[in-house]
Amino acid sequence: MKNKSNFLFILLIICSVFLSFVNDDNPYFSISKKDIKFVNPKGFPEPLYSFKNNKLTPDGFLLGRELFYDEILSKDNTVSCGSCHQRFAAFSHIDHTLSHGIYGRIGNRNIPSLQNLIWNNSFMWDGGITNLEIQPLGPISNHLEMDETIEGIILKLNKSPNYKPLFVKTFGDTIINSERVLKALTQFVGLMISNKSKYDKYIAGKEKFTPEEEHGLQLFRAKCASCHTEPLFTNNSFKNNGLIPDSTLKDIGREKVTSNSADKYLYKVPTLRNIEMTYPYMHDGRFRKLKDILNFYGSNENHTSLTDPLVNKIGPLDFTEKKDIILFLLTLTDKEFLFDRRFADPNVK
Ligand code: HEC
Ligand code: HEC
Repeated sequence: MKNKSNFLFILLIICSVFLSFVNDDNPYFSISKKDIKFVNPKGFPEPLYSFKNNKLTPDGFLLGRELFYDEILSKDNTVSCGSCHQRFAAFSHIDHTLSHGIYGRIGNRNIPSLQNLIWNNSFMWDGGITNLEIQPLGPISNHLEMDETIEGIILKLNKSPNYKPLFVKTFGDTIINSERVLKALTQFVGLMISNKSKYDKYIAGKEKFTPEEEHGLQLFRAKCASCHTEPLFTNNSFKNNGLIPDSTLKDIGREKVTSNSADKYLYKVPTLRNIEMTYPYMHDGRFRKLKDILNFYGSNENHTSLTDPLVNKIGPLDFTEKKDIILFLLTLTDKEFLFDRRFADPNVK
């Protein structure tokens, strides 16, 4: 009899060890206080979004991650934020020129990367959204993207057995409302911070550039940094960089938001961090290679009547100049960010 209970006891231990592996306690996906500590990177300005009113906690971050990767956020439960914003592409989408949403619907813009968002004062290519916390309402309600309502999501979350415990852990009770959903999502996307590229190490004096990268940086500072300003590689402004408008998309850029004809064909200056991984490029995904972009900026192709004078000033670029600017741009790849386990989809084990 005693042997039997010993046996059962040992079996129980084996089972619980096994379960701890298949469970969410998998250390690859677990999040500790240390993992979500926000420290403003050296050399970065003060962020424009503050976590003061959305206190970072491991449970809040985990809830945000669960929501980000959950298809429940779309009308027919097929599309998650993460299905468009892919981690290894710095949360842009490799290969799709325009975004692909619910029911196979094709959107009208290229999917931007998600990184260093808390330093942005506006979102989307036209700056149509100015608050990071309410930003998810855009894709959720967009009929080409998720085609859902926040009320619909709250109903589904209330019915799901997974979420009640997560809300209790995060907020102390079972209330599921839009404010809580949006705050949790913001904890998750707000911590997507890229500041560990070769460029960052070079600036910190910890790594050296090759002569070509150095030359590329000097050219970049002279010709590109007025818009793609270090260290975030955007100055958060809206500009026309000389693209000839796509006649089928009929995208008018920032004018859509301001109704001011002076804003026609202006687009947000995108960050260039992790640019190696975020192809295709531009608001409509028209360029596939960095080479195409340098050919574009270094030619007459970009001289439309609306082109920003700073682009006109770039002038022709020769082969070596283009190559070295590209070699410099490649130093902006941040592998630590791209492979950061905190942002991995916990459902793909
Ligand atoms: C169907 C694909 C798709 C889905 C699903 C999607 N997005 Fe996006 N996301 C986009 C596109 C396209 C844009 C740019 C839209 C524009 O400029 O009009 C964008 C823009 C953004 C931006 C602004 C980035 C910037 O730098 O301006 C954030 C933040 C964002 N998405 C987060 C989310 C979150 C959170 C979810 C889930 C609630 C989500 N997205 C779901 C395609 C998608
Ligand atoms: C006048 C401001 C300005 C200058 C100067 C400028 N850019 Fe841009 N850049 C932009 C804007 C605006 C966009 C987005 C345009 C769009 O999609 O319609 C952009 C887009 C890009 C993209 C694509 C990013 C993405 O995620 O799709 C790259 C790469 C780029 N620029 C590199 C450069 C380089 C290299 C230079 C210098 C040779 C340069 N830019 C000079 C404003 C500028």
